[in-house]
Amino acid sequence: MSIFINEQEKTFHLTNDKISYIFRVMENKQLEHIYYGSKIVFSDSVSRLVERSFRPVSVVEFDNDLTTCLDSIKQEFPSSGGGDFREAAIDVTFENGSHILELEYNSYKTAKGKTKLPGMPATFANQDECETLTIFMKDELSGLEVELNYTIFNTLPVITRSVRLHNNGNENITIERLLSASVDIPDQKYDVIHLSGLWGRERHFYRSPAEPGVKAVYSTRGASSHHHNPFIALAHPEATENHGNVYSMNLVYSGNFLAQVDVDNYYVNRLMIGIHPNRFQWKLKPHGEFYSPEAVLVFSDKGLNGMSHAYHDLYNNHLINPKWAHKARPVVMNNWEGTYLDFTEDKIISIAETASELGVELFVLDDGWFGKRDLDNSSLGDWYVNKEKLPNGIDGLAKKVNDLGMEFGLWFEPEMSNSDSHIMKEHPEWIIGTPGRFRKPARFQYVLDYGNPEVVEHIFEMMDDILSNANISYVKWDMNRNISEAYSAYLDSKSQGELMHRYILGVYTLYDKLLERHPNLLIESCASGGGRFDPGMLYYAPQTWTSDDSDAIERLKIQYGTSMVYPVSSIGAHVSAVPNHQVGRITPLDTRANVAFFGVFGYELDPNKLTEEEMQEIKEQIKYYKRNRELLLFGEFTRLASPFEENETMWMVKTKDKEQAIVAWFQVLSIPNDGYRRVRVPGLDPSALYEIEENGLQYTGSELENIGIVLTPPIRGELGFDDTAIMNKRDFDSKIFTLRKVK
Ligand code: GLA
Repeated sequence: MSIFINEQEKTFHLTNDKISYIFRVMENKQLEHIYYGSKIVFSDSVSRLVERSFRPVSVVEFDNDLTTCLDSIKQEFPSSGGGDFREAAIDVTFENGSHILELEYNSYKTAKGKTKLPGMPATFANQDECETLTIFMKDELSGLEVELNYTIFNTLPVITRSVRLHNNGNENITIERLLSASVDIPDQKYDVIHLSGLWGRERHFYRSPAEPGVKAVYSTRGASSHHHNPFIALAHPEATENHGNVYSMNLVYSGNFLAQVDVDNYYVNRLMIGIHPNRFQWKLKPHGEFYSPEAVLVFSDKGLNGMSHAYHDLYNNHLINPKWAHKARPVVMNNWEGTYLDFTEDKIISIAETASELGVELFVLDDGWFGKRDLDNSSLGDWYVNKEKLPNGIDGLAKKVNDLGMEFGLWFEPEMSNSDSHIMKEHPEWIIGTPGRFRKPARFQYVLDYGNPEVVEHIFEMMDDILSNANISYVKWDMNRNISEAYSAYLDSKSQGELMHRYILGVYTLYDKLLERHPNLLIESCASGGGRFDPGMLYYAPQTWTSDDSDAIERLKIQYGTSMVYPVSSIGAHVSAVPNHQVGRITPLDTRANVAFFGVFGYELDPNKLTEEEMQEIKEQIKYYKRNRELLLFGEFTRLASPFEENETMWMVKTKDKEQAIVAWFQVLSIPNDGYRRVRVPGLDPSALYEIEENGLQYTGSELENIGIVLTPPIRGELGFDDTAIMNKRDFDSKIFTLRKVK
């Protein structure tokens, strides 16, 4: 049992062997947050833990009590305007124009397991893996009912939260703001951590001191975005990768989000996450209901790696489709950087032939196969084959690829149209855009109104037709622009604030329908690379194209940052040609593979341009990945040295039983006459003996942890690839050490 309730004091304690989360019903019947953090032995009585003090210039709850003031009480689900002037979790407008809510505790219920969120992705678990507490609250005057759902996982430091609103009154209520979770964390001066970037450098790691005021990351773009990830953390200033307290939130949602901390002047940090309130307005008619997306809360007292282990574990076991969650993914050859839009069937087949010779298992045809798409200004939305390019159709091509012993995969961008397309000519009302205003293009394309079920159905039928008439086992689902001039011809003038949320619900509906019809389809999500890398997408698509930047050195930062939250099994990573198409850098082929091994591995180049020597090296790389991919994809991933701090990057994966590990070392620039470098490998069995597959050297687990593998620079020779050297004398060097327990 993980939920303990003191009926008399109305105190709720969610706990397992790692965490405790406590709140109570206070004097005004609203909810007061008491504690969140490492597991505590709770005496079951809360009165001594309640903080109260006289606060000058404050609005108080009762005439005869100068200390009960919402502005300085830690709250569980704050509303706005009623004495707490900090950022609120909920805000509504009533028909008379007022917005004050008095959400009073009504009752609670507990249940084993957790229920599905209607129409939205969420984590799932069996009855014996978690327990759910629902708190029922009500605003008596309006009849608005609020349900707060908390699920605590038995063996993970994880609580998920979501909110359901129900209008049990007689008037319309407009939801102006509804966040999924808010927690008031006291005392410390924390650091705020978030993952931010841009196209080509997504999810870089940022850490800065939290100071009074609001620090927010967000998206108002219609997708979770390249710019910020729906993730935020507060770390104790002394917390490192392996030590110290970290509180974090991640939103299982792919649209506009807000993740922020509001630090007040009593040093309370209000950490919150949910749908972005910007231009969001949802009309709740009498008897209507609304569900927030799910927020995932992870607390770690073992630093950032501890936090990441919990997310990886949760997502691999309770979010990603179980069909794929633990299944080795096929090695991919994607033609995008090899051909871009310029291909014929013959060219594709000759690439596929070479790919099959290399050991590739899945050939993916990217953009350019449909309508009359020769340039990127045409045909999005016309999902039928371009017979000029592919005279034997997709089915003919898929058969040939299958005959070469590979599976076949296909690119779609289902949410878009070009003005040069049948869909846009026949249904201009299906395109998002504001009447009388210029509809601005991006990459020559426009966004279909997925808030309109007819549009979703139309695209579904086209995609289903292609998928049902050819042997297609994989789809790359792209999404290459943000939503501007948001307005829907489908919605009435009073409901325009619903568009962005309805849009993403429409995207989820299409995913659901396609997977229901084609349950074995492997989908990789993508949005100009990693512009929609979020847990909402992972629920449907177990892997995401991490970034259009395939340069190995850039990828160190991108994959390091991404790994904060997302498991290796979700990180699409390909070896591409040099000079790299995004940055022009020339990196060694082994380093390119050594980075991409820590992801869903593949190649993105024209293999017919490879030298014989490169062909041989790639064959060996693919063999290595196939031998080790279960460990690489599903082993426990730990970061050892950060590319944001050092010239070196290190990370590792290991099996839970400590029998095997793979450790990777990368350097950016080569340093002359440098000090000795060592790769310390934590967490193996201290007294066991391990052997490194690559050089036969043996170390005990405790030697590996405390002394480490010594990286010896080459002794002589200009380029110095002599036998004794572990390092090479070159920029962008890297090494992989595959460790197996021998004794
Ligand atoms: C986006 C994707 C790329 C590729 C192109 C095709 O940029 O991120 O991988 O599929 O679109 O147009």
